[in-house]
Parts: sequence; structure tokens; C-alpha cells
Amino acid sequence: MKPVMGTEAALAENLANWDERARLHLDSYRAEAFADDPGEVELIVADSVDLMRPHLPGGSVDGLQVVHLQCHIGNDSISLARLGADVTGVDFSGEAVAIATSLARRAGLSERVRFAQARVEEAPQALGGRQFDLVYTSVGVLCWLPDMAGWARAVAALLKPGGLFFILEDHPMLCALDWDAEGGRLVAAHPYFWREQPLTWDDGVDYSSPVTLQNNRSHEWAHPLSELFTVLLEAGLSIESFQEHRKMYWKANDALQPTATGEWALADHPERVPLMFSLAARKPDTG
Ligand SMILES: C[S@@+](CC[C@H](N)C(=O)[O-])C[C@H]1O[C@@H](n2cnc3c(N)ncnc32)[C@H](O)[C@@H]1O
Repeated sequence: MKPVMGTEAALAENLANWDERARLHLDSYRAEAFADDPGEVELIVADSVDLMRPHLPGGSVDGLQVVHLQCHIGNDSISLARLGADVTGVDFSGEAVAIATSLARRAGLSERVRFAQARVEEAPQALGGRQFDLVYTSVGVLCWLPDMAGWARAVAALLKPGGLFFILEDHPMLCALDWDAEGGRLVAAHPYFWREQPLTWDDGVDYSSPVTLQNNRSHEWAHPLSELFTVLLEAGLSIESFQEHRKMYWKANDALQPTATGEWALADHPERVPLMFSLAARKPDTG
């Protein structure tokens, strides 16, 4: 039987893994070219804004104070700033925060985008209790969090009364599936429901690059949709919309094919399984 790994030890390995990926992603995301082009906005952010539009004052992020959780090297934070937001990105990786800060400077957006190093649960304290119009997070975020209740309390604490929370994320059902090349079908291979022991990967594979990571071990926690709804409701947010999507932004398994518009989708019967979900929730305005 494998020894059970403690949560802190798992988070320490995740941090080393993400620090290394941040350095790798500076190239594999072509992040400097992105920073240099003032007209470029990441597709994920453009799609997020379209999904958020009915929930935003004036239908845009222009002029909003935004906190971007798990911002990684800041491409999406810079995109939000290019759409007119004032953005604070938060990530637990010091390497990611350093690269994001230099990219924002390179993009000429230092005044409008800044970054802080903190675990999500510690973000309210790290940002001195500041509150925002919008808490934004997207794509590949929840699986890294062992404590969803703590995350939801942080989201609520970061919002002004009446503020909006929005997430566009890989669907937990898709994350539970794997591609069986021999059988030519998707199989339920990984946990969908929460369990204390995370799922450990040790192949050093990164989704954006063929380079094998030296800090090869990472640990992911499964979070079913029921858990997401429960923690947000318990943190006092009201859910305004929830949608499931047939496309995603990276190749999660070999059943996916590129779309004409730059995403990935099941070429065969895309109605079989959701690839992503999005959710908008509001902190009640009690004033
Ligand atoms: C897949 S990236 C998401 C970023 C974004 N979608 C992108 O591709 O640029 C996940 C990010 O979560 C961060 N992260 C992982 N665990 C975290 C934690 N407990 N607190 C804060 N950030 C964390 C990692 O450092 C990484 O930058």
C-alpha cells in the first residue's frame, strides 16, 4: 500500500512543479510576444467576458476592480486590463508572480495590473482586506485546491457587497475520464467525487510543452459540482447562472480534435460529455 501523503507535503510538491512550469510557460505560451501586442486578448478571457456580460454593470469589465485568482504568468490578467479593468492577480507561485509582473511591465500596464503571491485561502489577508467588483478565475484551477470551503470563503471575502464571482473551468466529469487508445473510447478512469488523498501524477508531463519537468510530481484533488455549489452557497453567494460547454482550451485527452476557432472538442458525438462549465454568483448587497 502507498503511504498516505500529507496535504502540506503535497502542496509543497505542487509549488515546485508550478514554479518550474511558470518558467517553461514563458516560452510555450509565447508570453513575451503576447505582452508586446496591445491588441491581443486571450480567447479564454474574451469568451469569459461574453458569458459574464449579462451579469456585469454595462455589460463589460471596463472600469471594474478585478481580482484574478490563480493568475499564473498573467496573460489572462493582462487581457482583462486590456479590456479596461484594474486587475490584481494572485498566485502561490513566486516564479509565476515574478514573470507576470515583468510581463505587465513589458506590456506597459504596470499601473493597471499588479500581482501578489499567496495561496487562495490567504488572498484576503495578503491583499489587506481590499474588496473587488469581480473575482475571476479560469481553466485548471480547482483541482489544485485541497480546501474548497476555505477557497469559497476567500472568494466571498474578496467581493464587495453586490460584487460578482465568475469561473470558467474544466468540467470535473471530463477530468474523471481518460482515453483508452486500444478500445478507442472514453473510460471513467479517475475519481469524480472528493476523497482526501489526492491523485498523484509523476510523469512530468506539461500540457503546453514536450519538455519533461524535473519537479515531476503533482497532486490533484477531485471536486464534484455538488461540492462547488455547496461551498459557494455556504459562503453566502447566490448563484445567478450555470452552464456546461462542449469545447475546451487545451487537449485534455486524445478524443479531442482542434476546432476551427482554436479550441478543442469531441469530434465524434460531442453531446456525450461536457468539457467545461461556467458559473456566475453574486455576493448579496445587504446595504
Ligand atoms: C493551470 S494554472 C491556471 C492559470 C490559467 N488558466 C493559465 O493557463 O494561465 C494553475 C495556477 O494555479 C496556481 N496554484 C496552484 N495551487 C494554488 C494555491 N493553493 N493557491 C494559489 N495558487 C495556486 C499555480 O501556481 C498555477 O499558476
